[in-house]
Amino acid sequence: MVRKRMKHLTKVSDLTKEECEKIINKSIEIKANKEKYYSALSYNTLLMVFEKPSLRTRVSFETGMMQMGGHAIFYSLKDSPLGKKENIHDMAKCVSRYVDLIAARVFKRQDIWELAKHAEVPVINMLDDNAHPCQILCDFQTIKEKKGQLDDLKLSYFGDAYNNVTYDLMRMSAIFGIKMDVACPEGKKYSPELEVMDEISDLSRKSGAEVRVIHEAMEAARDADIIYTDSWMSYGIPFDKEEERKKIFMPFQVTSNIITAAKNDVIFMNCLPAMRGYEQTAEVIDGSRSVVFDQAENRLHIQKAIMLFLLNKF
Ligand code: CP
Ligand code: NVA
Repeated sequence: MVRKRMKHLTKVSDLTKEECEKIINKSIEIKANKEKYYSALSYNTLLMVFEKPSLRTRVSFETGMMQMGGHAIFYSLKDSPLGKKENIHDMAKCVSRYVDLIAARVFKRQDIWELAKHAEVPVINMLDDNAHPCQILCDFQTIKEKKGQLDDLKLSYFGDAYNNVTYDLMRMSAIFGIKMDVACPEGKKYSPELEVMDEISDLSRKSGAEVRVIHEAMEAARDADIIYTDSWMSYGIPFDKEEERKKIFMPFQVTSNIITAAKNDVIFMNCLPAMRGYEQTAEVIDGSRSVVFDQAENRLHIQKAIMLFLLNKF
């Protein structure tokens, strides 16, 4: 018997386009047939390690695992000897003897890589400073459901572009060969890292995607099928930076004018948590083009598909 290679999900570009499609299609199928999967992961355990806060990711993974007959353990790094009396290598080796999957939300990408290097079970990145693959797979499922397809689209992102969610949205747009405009303030602190831009160029060369970083919000809004924004105050950004950041990002706030400048059937997305009056106005997030709660719901279905995929169950 040929054993399949163990896979980790550290960023969306760990997957091919075909694998992304496979996971998205499975999630759509699970959403319509939840009962069919009630024992799909019975006696399986997911360890969820958290170094930063979460609502959606924690609750959707925990519920998803329970609905497939498995068990999820919430483990806060506040309660852990990690970094003090223990290193990631030893942690990865120990927990691999207990659980079937390890998911982690950490500050530094190097910690996810280290975990994936030493774990003997699949590792899922639940958000670091480089990627948020579970979110972006969910987002593309939502786009497919709302637009009927994933080709020939323009996705426009507004705001903080030195940002995990932005990076994986750019990678995914590049993988799928669609157009993406990233509208952000000028300067290294607010724009994608060079290393990410290089990866996007490589992926786009293969797919024919056009991913641009620009500094004019109205230009990005034009002809957009999807308008997306993320927090100006990502987890871990000190609160004393709030006023300064608000001023810097305000020209990239998603307002009704931005929505009006896009296509008539544009959808508005935000991975959440969201702050009204910051990255978007209340009118936009609570308005008729907003799909943020359908998007949030899909976290539950996609988590199930991701776990089944990594455990080679389809
Ligand atoms: N979108 C998202 O990951 O939300 P949480 O931070 O609440 O998990
Ligand atoms: N960029 C945000 C995403 C939250 C889901 C953060 O890192 O906090």
